[in-house]
Amino acid sequence: MNNKDKFISPNVLMEHAVKAREASYSPYSGFKVGAALLTRSGKIYTGCNIENAAFTPTVCAERVAIFKAVSEGEHDFTAIAVAGGAGKDPDPNVAPCGVCRQVMMEFCDADTFEIYLVKGKNEYTSLTLKELLPYGFGKGNLE
Ligand code: THU
Repeated sequence: MNNKDKFISPNVLMEHAVKAREASYSPYSGFKVGAALLTRSGKIYTGCNIENAAFTPTVCAERVAIFKAVSEGEHDFTAIAVAGGAGKDPDPNVAPCGVCRQVMMEFCDADTFEIYLVKGKNEYTSLTLKELLPYGFGKGNLE
């Protein structure tokens, strides 16, 4: 976090992820996921998983949030909160899938981007993208 970054607490971001989870469209898996992505300037973009009868077009909550933000010109992100699970409350062990980790790798600094896994009210596990995707392949490899 730099001095000029607008501070939004992990708890606030988590509240947005929990709220976004309510819109999950998951009639096939019954597994509801919500995500809330924070831009460096302090804006929050939310997403939920959106499933499809043909299965493969399904998109995860994290990518929905990231693509919403990128489609509005945002490219600078500092954190994402993820709330997912089959039950009423989020399962604290749900972490972004491999495809979402790779999409994060495109837009986020692996060393500093934080991923908050929602455990409960004001409770979370915090991991960096590098911890979730060590030796990740990114644009730096193509330079
Ligand atoms: N899912 C997400 O939205 N994010 C994750 O991190 C893991 C999986 C969704 C995809 C699918 O709709 C459902 O959860 C079960 O895999």
